[in-house]
Amino acid sequence: MQFPNVDPIPIPAPIWLMKVLSLLTLALHFFAVQILIGSLVAVIYFSLKARSNGPAAQGAALTVARRLPIVMTYVINLGVPPLLFAQVLYGRALYTSSILIAVQWIGVVFILMGCYWLLYRISDRTTYGKPVHWHAIGALLLAAMVGHIYAANMTLMLRPEVWQQMYAKTASGLQSAPHDPTAEPRLMFVLIGGFLVGGFWLTLHSKLKTIESGAAELLRSTGATFAVIGALGELATGFWVYTVQPGEVQNGMHTPLYQIGIVVWGVGFALALLMAGVVLARKASGLLVTILGSLGAFLGIAGAVIVRDGIRDVTLLQKGFDVWKRQEASNWFVICIFLVLFVAGLGAIGWLLSVMKAAKPIPEQVNA
Ligand code: HEM
Repeated sequence: MQFPNVDPIPIPAPIWLMKVLSLLTLALHFFAVQILIGSLVAVIYFSLKARSNGPAAQGAALTVARRLPIVMTYVINLGVPPLLFAQVLYGRALYTSSILIAVQWIGVVFILMGCYWLLYRISDRTTYGKPVHWHAIGALLLAAMVGHIYAANMTLMLRPEVWQQMYAKTASGLQSAPHDPTAEPRLMFVLIGGFLVGGFWLTLHSKLKTIESGAAELLRSTGATFAVIGALGELATGFWVYTVQPGEVQNGMHTPLYQIGIVVWGVGFALALLMAGVVLARKASGLLVTILGSLGAFLGIAGAVIVRDGIRDVTLLQKGFDVWKRQEASNWFVICIFLVLFVAGLGAIGWLLSVMKAAKPIPEQVNA
């Protein structure tokens, strides 16, 4: 057995419930990450474009940039739940890999702080029409670095065969995970999705009544182009992620749940591609098309998250770790409190959104 034996605390809720919540929150996390990545690429483009096409590009940059710090709160808050679920369910694998690359892993906190600081600077500078492309390039690189470390750890946790050797090399935590051919495709899948979800984020904001028409048109056309590139990219990188898996893992994926995941992935991204094409061809740029496209993108991500979970479970099972055989001692009192608070939280968010909707809109203008 290559996995550490000690797991003193049984799982406090049914494994299926933990899995459902983990997959749902992870899909939402990826959605938020992709809004962040797409927005940063767009801000770089608008900031460079502002040199030739001043006000419209500055207006578009401002619209996207001032929402960046809020988007980051969603990235982080929707990342915490799947992290907790992953630790509870796969602790013996995930703790081990995290300790082996401890310096990088803890470094995520500081990289995130740097990225967050840049987002505030970008938001502030665009308010005064100042260029922000260097800041946005910096923030994008830092975000990609965080994604890279996550992909490295989430693949290292699947390779108990290299742990011993890594630990023998150094116990300081000052090392990177050895090269894994499946890590880059997984990272690229999430990052390229930035064009898709970020693209629809732009077309959605082109419908705002508080921005000028030049900025709105730029947001619509850029968003639609991004979304087409992103949808094609998701189909290509998703296929890539699957094909780099070892043959025995691919064989283990021939179960109804994972096959459904693959279908949902394909149908979701195909729908997103269709809707992005409709907006690009100017057949319609209505809210409904954007919402349908975003829904397609979310479905695609949800399908991919199910397949990703399958890749993890099948890989770990072949190496002697069966997550479904974890000892379970459900504490239903705590689970009920959790569900009540969860629903109350959703209600509070709905109420906040209704207050926001009723508020008088403020024009979004650059104070040059
Ligand atoms: C700029 C910020 C971030 C980016 C770009 C990012 C990107 C990514 C990427 C690319 C993956 C996929 C890794 C893979 O499939 O191999 C991932 C997974 C994950 N991320 Fe993030 N992430 C960010 C911030 C965070 C934060 C702050 C948290 C938590 C506090 C978080 C929690 C997670 C978790 C838990 C997973 C994997 C869950 C699982 O395997 O069950 N992320 N993230």
